[in-house]
Amino acid sequence: MTDVKTSPLNIDAIRTDFPILNQEVHPGKRVVFLDSAASSQKPRQVIDAMSDYYETSHANVHRGIHVLSERATNGYEGARVKVKEFINAASSREIIYTRNTTESINLVSYTWGRTNLGPGDVVVLTEMEHHSNIVPWQMLAAERGFTIRYVPVTDSGELDLDAYAALLRDEPVKLVGVVHVSNMLGTVNPVEDMIAQAHTAGALFLLDGAQSVPHLAVDVQALDVDFMAFSAHKMAGPTGIGVLYGKRALLEAMPPFLGGGDMIKRVTLEGSTWNTLPHKFEAGTPSIAEAIGLGAAVDYLRGVGMDNVLAHERILVHYALDRLAEVPGLTLYGPDADRRNGVATFTLKDMHAHDLAQLLDAEGVAIRAGHHCAMPLHQRFGIAASARASFYLYNSTQDVDALVNAIEVARKRLGM
Ligand code: ALA
Repeated sequence: MTDVKTSPLNIDAIRTDFPILNQEVHPGKRVVFLDSAASSQKPRQVIDAMSDYYETSHANVHRGIHVLSERATNGYEGARVKVKEFINAASSREIIYTRNTTESINLVSYTWGRTNLGPGDVVVLTEMEHHSNIVPWQMLAAERGFTIRYVPVTDSGELDLDAYAALLRDEPVKLVGVVHVSNMLGTVNPVEDMIAQAHTAGALFLLDGAQSVPHLAVDVQALDVDFMAFSAHKMAGPTGIGVLYGKRALLEAMPPFLGGGDMIKRVTLEGSTWNTLPHKFEAGTPSIAEAIGLGAAVDYLRGVGMDNVLAHERILVHYALDRLAEVPGLTLYGPDADRRNGVATFTLKDMHAHDLAQLLDAEGVAIRAGHHCAMPLHQRFGIAASARASFYLYNSTQDVDALVNAIEVARKRLGM
């Protein structure tokens, strides 16, 4: 069993920052929140930053010549600088606010993809992708006539890197799109090498960072990644705001995504010209309070330290996999704890994952059940649904114990 005393985090102190965790969801059952891969909880610092903005500084951004608009603009743009530093982008012009990871990937497919892909071209994705990095490409392929190839997943839940190398060698690949950390299996993919290989083959690389940026330090310049998408709500920030990182030269060359206010330089009845980056991609009144909340989330995570977050979650995953492996009839999916992050996914004999999740909820334990927006990966493992416990910096080994105890209750209830 892993030594659980080595966490660098003071979990009791961290938990006091997250008011939502201090409640009972059923009589006598305190909430045990193990669904952060779907959406994380928010610390008081993020909630306060957003309500303080609304109480003292709300106005529209980039528009008004008055104090409140200047405050709002400073908060909105200041958060962009924080995000730039958090992922080590070269310039805050490379940070595009979107609604979420899904919108970020759609932005790339609608603009870069529609301009650059056509018959004879290949986009390489993987069987491990979230639907948000499959469906936009399928929609565009139907329109533009290019081909999509998928890197297979091995029995241990990792990418078949020989197959990846063969695709890059044998096919005219223009773009590779890969999830950094699988939302179903927790697999941490070796993206640094994969990006280098894609570049050698002349392809661009789009990284889905939805499940990595919240949990480990990601440096876009060190990775040399071309595009990266992630969401605030999975990293202790609010819903309604996400980020597309893109290399400046690529973003400059791309046409706009949505048309309207703020994204233009000049409009006449005959035509329009576009604003500079990042505004070219941010049409309309943006999510101002949400950007400020994202900035506060970045401050919070940097205060804790991403290396500490990662080390803590590694301990939890080791502990969880050890404990879950003891449960009779439980099947775990995905690689060893050393090669994964943040999640433990399982099935319990022939019990439907939704029934299991409902029984766990009665014990106060919140997990996700279903296909987790990764149907092809479930098909790969011959299952329609799974139960997923996912961890974040506020979880403790006691939460894992509560999960295992609740599974025991469920097993007894069903006479297993
Ligand atoms: N993509 C999120 C998840 O994995 C919603 O649950």
